[in-house]
Amino acid sequence: MTKRRHRVLAASALKGGVGKTTTAVNLAAASARAGHRTLLVDADPQGSVGTSLGLAPEARGLAAWIMKDAAFDESVVRAARENLDVLPAGERLLDVEDLFREKGKEKRRTRLAKRFEALEDEEYDVVILDCPPAASLLLENVYHVADELILPAKLDFLSLPALEKTRLFVKEENASREKPLRIVGVLPTFYDLRTAVSTELLDTLRERFTKILTPIRINVALAEAPSVGKTIFEFDGSSRGAVDYALLAEDLKLA
Ligand SMILES: Nc1ncnc2c1ncn2[C@@H]1O[C@H](COP(=O)(O)OP(=O)(O)OP(=O)(O)O)[C@@H](O)[C@H]1O
Ligand SMILES: [Mg+2]
Repeated sequence: MTKRRHRVLAASALKGGVGKTTTAVNLAAASARAGHRTLLVDADPQGSVGTSLGLAPEARGLAAWIMKDAAFDESVVRAARENLDVLPAGERLLDVEDLFREKGKEKRRTRLAKRFEALEDEEYDVVILDCPPAASLLLENVYHVADELILPAKLDFLSLPALEKTRLFVKEENASREKPLRIVGVLPTFYDLRTAVSTELLDTLRERFTKILTPIRINVALAEAPSVGKTIFEFDGSSRGAVDYALLAEDLKLA
């Protein structure tokens, strides 16, 4: 059987609360709605992806699958939405750090990639990973699996140093990869047209980074949707958030 080519994207930033989960969830939703068979992976021990989609807490998930305690089929939530499977974080995702640390320098980074190799015949068109906000072995594993990286950056004055840190981390990771991880772009989030700081920061980002994706505006619907377990498209398809994430998905050729 020929191997089906799929895209693997991760939303990552070495900073909390910048819109990583919101971006991963809603991009995965847009991709699934466009008819792509999509897998959304929660690689953050906080486990926000499952909650955001209104899924019941899952004991196994990514944690059990990485540790080989469970098969993929027993770990994944099938058809969380049409065309969308979700691999929740699972209860013991924090414990994988210790497990990875027991391995040699190379093996500890490629554990997740090894598990993904077994997924080939699952035939996903698109895999999207939500990342934890701090550097860890788990994050290094995600960087080994992903081909494309989206860097959400909240438009406040602390975003620049965090972006530089993230860029450095990607550079270090790339040193040990055969095929470089591609930064598809910095994604400005919480864009507020009314504030000068938002506009100034956006200008600065454009000066410093070659690829700036279309900004996601600040939108209360984006904050409300996960609290009722809905994607932005289910919660309010005409909201700014829905419009912005639909545009982003088109930009990234996911929809
Ligand atoms: N554009 C936006 N406008 C308004 N609220 C937003 C926007 N994007 C995200 N939020 C809200 O801001 C909070 C942080 O977003 P999110 O959880 O996506 O960030 P994160 O980077 O994944 O955070 P963490 O580092 O904790 O995982 C959430 O409550 C989310 O609903
Ligand atoms: Mg998150």
